[in-house]
Amino acid sequence: MNVYDSERMLETVSKTHNQVKSPNDADAILLNTCHIREKAAEKVYSEIGKFSDLKRKNKKLKVIVAGCVAQAEGNAMLQRQPLIDSIIGPQMYQHLPDILLDESKKRNVLLDFNEQEKFSKLGAKRNIASISSFITIQEGCDKFCSFCVVPFTRGAEYSRSAQEIFNEADSLCQKGCKEVILLGQNVNAYHGINKNNKQINLAGLIKELAKINKLERITYTTSHPRDMNDDLIELHEDSEKLNPYLHLPVQSGSDDILKNMNRKYTSKQYLEIIDKLRKKVPNIALSSDFIVGFPGETKKDFQDTLNLVKEVKFAQSYSFKYSRRIGTKANRINCMLTEEEKNERLQVLQMVLNKQKHSYNKTFVGKRIEVFIKGKGKKDNQYRGTTKWMQSTIFESNKHLETNKVNLKVKSAMDNCLLGDLI
Ligand code: 5AD
Ligand code: SF4
Repeated sequence: MNVYDSERMLETVSKTHNQVKSPNDADAILLNTCHIREKAAEKVYSEIGKFSDLKRKNKKLKVIVAGCVAQAEGNAMLQRQPLIDSIIGPQMYQHLPDILLDESKKRNVLLDFNEQEKFSKLGAKRNIASISSFITIQEGCDKFCSFCVVPFTRGAEYSRSAQEIFNEADSLCQKGCKEVILLGQNVNAYHGINKNNKQINLAGLIKELAKINKLERITYTTSHPRDMNDDLIELHEDSEKLNPYLHLPVQSGSDDILKNMNRKYTSKQYLEIIDKLRKKVPNIALSSDFIVGFPGETKKDFQDTLNLVKEVKFAQSYSFKYSRRIGTKANRINCMLTEEEKNERLQVLQMVLNKQKHSYNKTFVGKRIEVFIKGKGKKDNQYRGTTKWMQSTIFESNKHLETNKVNLKVKSAMDNCLLGDLI
């Protein structure tokens, strides 16, 4: 979502500012920050410290901190770091142009949650588009998982109107986009208003977007198991454009830990969703987030996570050591594992998950796949792209490629990518 936000921030200031390659050439430096895990704030402070020489040389230089660290730290940031000129929370960056043009030395602090104004001011017209483009359709979260800062930094759940999203997708497709990645902290809780003033869910929105001719692929992230409704599951079978990919974080396989995390589902309910999906789309690429070392996680709890992983067989995954977040409920549970125990569990889990990724990718060897090209690879004649199962793919071409979409025959599979030959 920060990639999307950064693109939109750039678009808002494009009338007066353009992007430069190095902070040395800049009149404004904006740090867009993430606060999901520990140490983010410390990183931001140390990064800003590096700009002190630049500030001395260029009296006009503005240093602005945006995103969730700004939201969480608030005024304390200005007190601790005099080099910062302004801070803007994630729902207020529509005011960035005014802040950049403000010639007074006023230090602006904009931390309200004003999603509606933000999206209506930003408008639906897009200047920055690529073959796969992000669109935020929903923001914030009302779920309050006990480990998570998102409800505090991104605010309450908010869904954009379907028409606004349709117009934005259409605008991206006019500029060469062929795949949209619909974003939300709780994307499958989407419940926006359509043009007839009726509330529609994510499945309804995807059906609307699928009417855009130039749009070939649609995907969405991140979903919550509790909002994985039948409409959406069925759409995975019925829609030609919806990618056979789902990122559905389970976090843990232990029912006790899930309860303490306030996830409001059991491992059995999670497995039932997976079962329903696989009946509709047998080779769907399933992805998940995991947290190891949540306060009080016993060896048995961790074993339950391993058992769930072995049962599901994930195609992709992201796993993290639990980190304490001030203000969250879990931060008050006094039963922390040692760093060593957490490291050990993470390693064991990641070994199993990596093997699963490899096994999934191996099922593609010998198959013909369509790849959207995302850019050049490490070698001169190398390109990288993605499949509709969201796998990274690498291939070579000695000829200059005229298109941004190719067909490949997969020749081998690694843990994190496929290697293919151009057909
Ligand atoms: N500690 C570790 N991981 C966390 N995540 C969110 N909060 C924490 C935390 N306090 C992980 C979850 C979430 C992903 C985006 O980040 O797995 O799904
Ligand atoms: Fe955080 Fe996701 Fe839980 Fe919301 S549903 S509190 S964003 S982990």
